[in-house]
Amino acid sequence: MPPSAPLALGLLLGLWLQCCWSQTPPPSSTRAPPPSSTRAPGTAPPPSSTRAPAQRLKVRLAGYPRKHNEGRVELFHQGEWGTVCDDDFSISNAHVLCRQLGFVEATGWTHSAKYGKGLGRIWLDNVQCGGGEKSIALCKSRGWGNSDCTHDEDAGVVCKDERIPGFVDSNVIDAHVSENKVEEVRLRPVAATKRKLPVTEGVVEVKHRDGWAQVCDLGWSIKNTRVVCGMLGFPHERRLGKNPQPSLKNFFYVHSVACSGTEVHLAACPLEFSRPNSTGACPGGAPAAVSCVPGPLFTPGGLKKKLKTSVRGVRLKGGARLGEGRVEVLRGGEWGTVCDDRWNLQAASVVCRELGFGSAKEALTGARMGQGMGPIYLSEVRCLGTERSIWNCPFRNVSSEDCQHLEDAAVRCNVPYMGLENTIRITGGRTRYEGRLEVLSTDPNGTQTWGLICGETWTTMEAMVACRQLGLGYANQGLKETWYWDSSNVTDMVLSGVRCSGTEMSLSQCQHHPTVSCQKAAAKFAAGVICSETASDLVLNASLVQQTVYIEDRPLHMLYCAAEEDCLSKSAAKANWPYGHRRLLRFSSQIHNIGRADFKPKAGRHSWVWHACHGHYHSMDIFTHYDLLNANGTKVAEGHKASFCLEDTDCHEGVSKRYECANFGDQGITVGCWDLYRHDIDCQWIDITDVKPGNYIMQIVINPNQEVAESDFTNNAMKCNCKYDGHRVWFHNCHIGDAFSEEAERRFEKYPGQLNNRISS
Ligand SMILES: *[C@@H]1O[C@H](CO)[C@@H](O)[C@H](O)[C@H]1NC(C)=O
Ligand SMILES: *[C@@H]1O[C@H](CO)[C@@H](O)[C@H](O)[C@H]1NC(C)=O
Ligand SMILES: *[C@@H]1O[C@H](CO)[C@@H](O)[C@H](O)[C@H]1NC(C)=O
Ligand SMILES: *[C@@H]1O[C@H](CO)[C@@H](O)[C@H](O)[C@H]1NC(C)=O
Ligand SMILES: *[C@@H]1O[C@H](CO)[C@@H](O)[C@H](O)[C@H]1NC(C)=O
Ligand SMILES: *[C@@H]1O[C@H](CO)[C@@H](O)[C@H](O)[C@H]1NC(C)=O
Repeated sequence: MPPSAPLALGLLLGLWLQCCWSQTPPPSSTRAPPPSSTRAPGTAPPPSSTRAPAQRLKVRLAGYPRKHNEGRVELFHQGEWGTVCDDDFSISNAHVLCRQLGFVEATGWTHSAKYGKGLGRIWLDNVQCGGGEKSIALCKSRGWGNSDCTHDEDAGVVCKDERIPGFVDSNVIDAHVSENKVEEVRLRPVAATKRKLPVTEGVVEVKHRDGWAQVCDLGWSIKNTRVVCGMLGFPHERRLGKNPQPSLKNFFYVHSVACSGTEVHLAACPLEFSRPNSTGACPGGAPAAVSCVPGPLFTPGGLKKKLKTSVRGVRLKGGARLGEGRVEVLRGGEWGTVCDDRWNLQAASVVCRELGFGSAKEALTGARMGQGMGPIYLSEVRCLGTERSIWNCPFRNVSSEDCQHLEDAAVRCNVPYMGLENTIRITGGRTRYEGRLEVLSTDPNGTQTWGLICGETWTTMEAMVACRQLGLGYANQGLKETWYWDSSNVTDMVLSGVRCSGTEMSLSQCQHHPTVSCQKAAAKFAAGVICSETASDLVLNASLVQQTVYIEDRPLHMLYCAAEEDCLSKSAAKANWPYGHRRLLRFSSQIHNIGRADFKPKAGRHSWVWHACHGHYHSMDIFTHYDLLNANGTKVAEGHKASFCLEDTDCHEGVSKRYECANFGDQGITVGCWDLYRHDIDCQWIDITDVKPGNYIMQIVINPNQEVAESDFTNNAMKCNCKYDGHRVWFHNCHIGDAFSEEAERRFEKYPGQLNNRISS
């Protein structure tokens, strides 16, 4: 949230009167009881009221086996979870329930306890919804607890796996859906403090319908501060040293805020709204002010500190923006994912705060930030919200039968407003996702000017940072030339030699030349980007490589085609063709697209190269590197720079193949599919004829030049320990580049004696 502009008080007051005053009958006294909707979560609804409980009813899906979007329907009523009988059940009922659960609609319903029998009460029977009701409690039924069914008749629903946009987990904010809802929070910096971003200290202002209101500080606690800081993207809070004590600016405000500290939104805290110009509710009070502690990413010089001490047991992967992604946790030196069963905002907030962000904006289920690979460590994580680490929350261990990567949990965290998108813009493109980049620079006199960036060093890595800074997601492409875009209003070049590692939050954190030095300084050679909300992500199946490796001595007379395609090492040229053989290290590679967009070759089909020998088109010059390295990291054998023909060999259930090589077909890898290069395909090897027996590291890198955009390049390498005794070969510890912790990775590169003993015994 930006720091506030001066409030148009009269206008706001007007809006307040218009929008709310007429709907909320004036309380008889200024200290009126709070509207029922601001009650703390968990307070029992008023009995036998038909409307109040409707909005507060908790619904959940239970049973087994099921996915996150289906299950036995359970309702929380009078402090007890119970089920619904399938008599008279219909798809209309299912629609109502699915919407209450945050899904757009139902695709079906089940009867006869398809997901197993529930326990406790059967809360509803003969339910007949019209389909448009806001809650199952508003539908016709026999009444709560009135049923002649047994749990053998428990009803279930199957919801369409598409969330209602902006739906917030009902178990937290369900009690506060009302006209008196706090929507947003911002800090108005205290006059004396410098206007530096992020704003960490100031007077709290809450957005309510169309207006901003201040908060009475009587009874304000550090727990309230924690909730406010969390919403603003800060992991921690501190007590304000000296309260500036300005007087209340507005004549309406919020008072009696009483958070427990674990809420992710002020709307989930008990609070009351005062009426305009009433002073009774905040006698002698001042506007509440808070002070927050930002995470290391948002502290000057904190980035370096963070890199030094990055021994956290949690990380986010696959998110398009800062502070969002699939949750991955570290155990025994290896990263794994979290199952979405019971995944909620409290657990998500623990993850967010641990990573230096605020509380969680959303707890995402169903692998909506892509599926991970490798182990799934945690399930049914139950955090209070006060834990320092997700590992401190109770959880259940999972086996592969319980949970699949289809159910990987993800988060969207609150991050502080840094104004990064204000110092960069794109112009000239055809859509708002593409254009020539311009950055805002300030000269010593304080004059600000927009200027272009030299395209010479510009690659996908730099484009990734630019797209992130623009808030436009991933880089689809980084362009070195932009002559084809409208250049009627171009500015001068102000930046050159930009080099990013890909993880920076803004281009200003990347390296660049001290003064502009660009060989082709014309605007048509300025850097440009095409950004995208989604990207592909290729990952190699490491265990398959490990399982399939072997050595073949292949006669030269069978290798003419391979030689023509440069698949043998240099010494092959000096061999006595067609007599003799080459020693080949062979294995299968299975390349999965676990991203959220199809992987497609950068070059259009007109520029694909026909390989007559193998009879197919190559769409990428360099798609993978296969290398054998010694302990020093020096290459001892290079398995050629393979250019493959990309296609969907097979897909996960429910995904259909789209790409195939045959007949000049479209090339690529669909999300949820993989391309398999079997060990017996020509060129699928490393030529080790000249390699001496010993211990090596075998390394595969996919898309090594980052020619095609991916959401994550850290998982593109795969490594194995390799032992070669002159006759046979063994692979061990095959793993994806980012699967191990740094510490485990350092150990991996050494060859402990124990490993050698185990192999040779
Ligand atoms: C509120 O109080 C201010 C200052 O006392 C006054 O100018 C304004 O008219 C009052 N507004 C209402 C709606 O009573
Ligand atoms: C989960 O598994 C780990 C490793 O096998 C074990 O140390 C831990 O005690 C288990 N935790 C639970 C809650 O079962
Ligand atoms: C900065 O201001 C000084 C004095 O007004 C002026 O001489 C100088 O040219 C200005 N520099 C730039 C870069 O505008
Ligand atoms: C270029 O700038 C001028 C003046 O600022 C403006 O009137 C014109 O519309 C701009 N042209 C384009 C193509 O943006
Ligand atoms: C990787 O290969 C192994 C061994 O063939 C196989 O069991 C596993 O299912 C594969 N993994 C994926 C994600 O396909
Ligand atoms: C590592 O490199 C050094 C110097 O280049 C060399 O002397 C040494 O033999 C190498 N070690 C291995 C295991 O190849």
